[in-house]
Amino acid sequence: MSNGLETLRDRLLQAIAGAADLSALDQVRVEAIGKKGELTQQMKMLGSMEADARRAAGQLLNVIKTDVETAIAERQGALAGAARSAKLAAERIDVTLPAAPEGEGHIHPISQTIEEITQIFAEMGFTVAEGPEIETDFNNFTALNIPPEHPARQMHDTFYLPPAADGTARVLRTHTSPVQVRTMLNSKPPIRIIAPGRTYRSDYDMTHTPMFHQVEGLVIDETTHMGHLRGCLTEFLRAFFQIDDLPLRFRPSFFPFTEPSAEVDIGCSRKGGQLKLGNYGDWLEILGCGMVHPKVLEMCGIDSTRYQGFAFGMGIERIAMLKYGIPDLRTFFDADLRWLRHYGFSFLDQPSLGLGLTR
Ligand code: PHE
Repeated sequence: MSNGLETLRDRLLQAIAGAADLSALDQVRVEAIGKKGELTQQMKMLGSMEADARRAAGQLLNVIKTDVETAIAERQGALAGAARSAKLAAERIDVTLPAAPEGEGHIHPISQTIEEITQIFAEMGFTVAEGPEIETDFNNFTALNIPPEHPARQMHDTFYLPPAADGTARVLRTHTSPVQVRTMLNSKPPIRIIAPGRTYRSDYDMTHTPMFHQVEGLVIDETTHMGHLRGCLTEFLRAFFQIDDLPLRFRPSFFPFTEPSAEVDIGCSRKGGQLKLGNYGDWLEILGCGMVHPKVLEMCGIDSTRYQGFAFGMGIERIAMLKYGIPDLRTFFDADLRWLRHYGFSFLDQPSLGLGLTR
């Protein structure tokens, strides 16, 4: 009898060790210690035995049952671990692979346009500078030669903010020009930066949104003059719009922080109510610029008898609308998925607007 029980034990332990997966193991468990399992049957038979034989067989059966249960638990742990590893391996995602180009995500036209602008100016040796959208009144106005009570402040439809803890007057920046101030205060000439970013004015209609984007340009050194400004903007606008003979017109204008100041128009045609950029005799205003005012240089700690340079500022939505034929400014910020799918860019659509400096 006991020999037969030991054989049974070895067979069960072997079956447990040989179970290939959790369901096979469960099958073995049912066949061994389930209601009609082999061990269970043996236990039931104890009742028909004589007292001595029953005690011996009962003890042995209990030991075997414990062994079998322990073996099942161990095998279960091992199989579960293996199953988890297999699942992890099967579900592994290679995050280094680019997502499928037909995926849902699109690059917003503003992001794409900033990329394009940056690429062109980077080739000309500009670096990208940044400043905060919550700006001091000093950086946004005073340092730019717009003192308190200056009428130019009214043109900016400023969002005024409560003063900082130390009493500093603050605004949402109304243009990217305060980045000029920050750059001049924090670095020494020669300076050659662009500063793209968000700007804010309290205005809302077909052509104005309370938040919009500008890109600022600033060049400061000992020799830069208005001819360089003209050459730089001509190169940029032709590369950006990809029109080789795009004409530029500089009109005298006024900004408190530049002297002389100019507004720049680019050539266009409005024939048949259709706007087309190029050398067609008509003009479209596109940006403001000028030579940095000596007062601004001095307020930013730069010796205006030694250094000079130019600055420009332009609206990013405006040039994006012109380049990509987007008719309404407000749609940029509606977060309408249909609009984004239509006007957005694939992330694989890297700008390649080189100046062709090697041509
Ligand atoms: N900051 C001006 C604006 O927002 C643009 C500008 C920048 C003009 C730099 C001249 C020089 O209208």
